[in-house]
Amino acid sequence: MKLKYQKHGNGKPIVLIHGFPLDSKMWTDTAESLIAEGFQVILPDLRFEANIEDSLANTAESIAHIIISLKLKKVIVGGLSMGGYVSFNLYRLYPELVAALILCDTNSSADSTEKRNSRFETIDQLNEKGNQALLDSMLENLFSKEILSKRPDIVEKVKQWIEDSDVNNNISALKAMANRIDHDYLLNKINIPTKIIFGENDKITDLTIANKLHQNIKNSELSIIPNAGHLSNLEQPVLFNASILDFVTRIND
Ligand code: MLT
Repeated sequence: MKLKYQKHGNGKPIVLIHGFPLDSKMWTDTAESLIAEGFQVILPDLRFEANIEDSLANTAESIAHIIISLKLKKVIVGGLSMGGYVSFNLYRLYPELVAALILCDTNSSADSTEKRNSRFETIDQLNEKGNQALLDSMLENLFSKEILSKRPDIVEKVKQWIEDSDVNNNISALKAMANRIDHDYLLNKINIPTKIIFGENDKITDLTIANKLHQNIKNSELSIIPNAGHLSNLEQPVLFNASILDFVTRIND
């Protein structure tokens, strides 16, 4: 499937892959800070095939086609949560295209049976009441306590994005995540620079997962963003962007 994407800037290319149930808008602030420092940023908007067994891998292939069609030899690939699941697929399928990885609030493991079942329950709810089902089941879990109590503007912005998102694509994304393969075996085979960034208070992918990634990926770096939850880039953009910038300026590929 062809994906829509935006491309800004010229310099060293960085592909940033968004989380669920959001789109590339979630990267606006981070992209601006990278472009200002002379990087090129490519922002795909993910779409999922409803009837393909491993639709996340299929999405990774579509991103590889974008990279190849732009005649880029190698790119830095960053993904948050679902975007990280896609990043693992991209690295597994096209390692030659990936100069470095930035894994944010994500996991290499496939879903547990319980998590898988809960995704199918959410699909039923989405069919019944549309995106309200996601607001009910997810919204609070996306943020740290601090942001929930002190930054209603950020919470409201994300709420609006979720309300406006495409219900059918959300259903296909949930199926894709439920069916995704387990990439734990890949961790100790990753031999490119890897930055791991997690919100200190992430309730969806917690710090035990951050530590698993860090311990198993050789020479990886781990940054914990204080007072941030699952959407660490939106909750603490200054710290998050500084962490990415520090990493990407050291990548020479
Ligand atoms: C995301 O932020 O992309 C989702 O929380 C991922 C998931 O549901 O596993």
